[in-house]
Amino acid sequence: MSRSERKIDHIRHALGHERDVHNHFDDVTIVHQSLARLDYQALNINTQVGELSLSSPLFVNAMTGGGGEKTEEINRNLAIAASQTGIGMAVGSQMSALKNPEERKTYEIVRKMNPDGVVFANVGSEATADLAKEAVDMLEANALQIHVNTLQELIMPEGDRDFSNRLKQIEQIRETMDVPVIVKEVGYGMSRETIKVLAELGISYVDVGGRGGTNFSKVENLRREKPLSSFNNWGIPTPISILESLQHDKVHVIGSGGIRHGLDGVKALALGAEAFGMAGALLKVLVEEGIEVLVEEIEHIHREIKVAMMLMNIEEVAQFKNQPYVLHGLTKEWIDQRKSL
Ligand code: FNR
Repeated sequence: MSRSERKIDHIRHALGHERDVHNHFDDVTIVHQSLARLDYQALNINTQVGELSLSSPLFVNAMTGGGGEKTEEINRNLAIAASQTGIGMAVGSQMSALKNPEERKTYEIVRKMNPDGVVFANVGSEATADLAKEAVDMLEANALQIHVNTLQELIMPEGDRDFSNRLKQIEQIRETMDVPVIVKEVGYGMSRETIKVLAELGISYVDVGGRGGTNFSKVENLRREKPLSSFNNWGIPTPISILESLQHDKVHVIGSGGIRHGLDGVKALALGAEAFGMAGALLKVLVEEGIEVLVEEIEHIHREIKVAMMLMNIEEVAQFKNQPYVLHGLTKEWIDQRKSL
């Protein structure tokens, strides 16, 4: 199988694998308020996350790394949809394009289709500071995501095994980068201990990338002769990971992983995230129904955010985090136990 065929296979598995039966966003209920006092038409959903000005708290999270016509087409369409709806977009890992210049056009198309939009570059934590800068320059990116995906690598037969330089590399990238650096998980979530270490390295943006949606243990296990299936349910669900992250008030938290619709996104904001990313759910719409339906879907999510603002009487996205909510079931159990530690 060629590299670009492998990528397509990867996308097929990422969209087609079985999802967790329980999504932990269903353990969060926001308290309803009856006395709406705002004008829906006057609502505005733009927001600020540290240095990043966003016209929506929603962004398309990192997908489709590597070269090939199909990945270029997906990136082009995601970029057009992001540009038409004004939302931010992260590209998939640029590591392979940094080594293979012929793959650069798969990424450059994203900036070409969306010249004024907010675009995030994406590298692995094995990138040197110079390579990370090249990745940002390739897209004139507004921020850089560094993905950490230990379990995915360990399950992949050809994956990385040595992470002994990881913290040093992350720190060096942060020191030399002149755009915000976001350290992101890919669906396993971040604990408060992880975020503490990142905060000590001077990282002030994290994307918790929690469990609940695209599950890379399942995706990679589908390619292994002897799967490490016992790790299929490993990881911290997204709502829990957002709550874990709040221990560090200097870190801007982005919520992602398993966000199915606008109300899950609103719950992420109510729990304390400042923006939310969606990957698999948006890619599925694009691949199965096309770009026009994807644009409608993003506009629908924006309507869901505004409906929630009406119900909570809030005029700014940043106010979601002060709204009352109740936790149930597994999420409450986790939070209760971790409180006493
Ligand atoms: C991803 N994701 C990802 N993340 C990353 O940092 N670099 C990457 O190259 C990729 N590649 C990638 C490909 C495909 C096909 C998918 C679906 C996802 C992970 C993604 O950004 C996100 O963290 C997880 O998918 C969890 O979010 P969802 O899908 O549950 O919304």
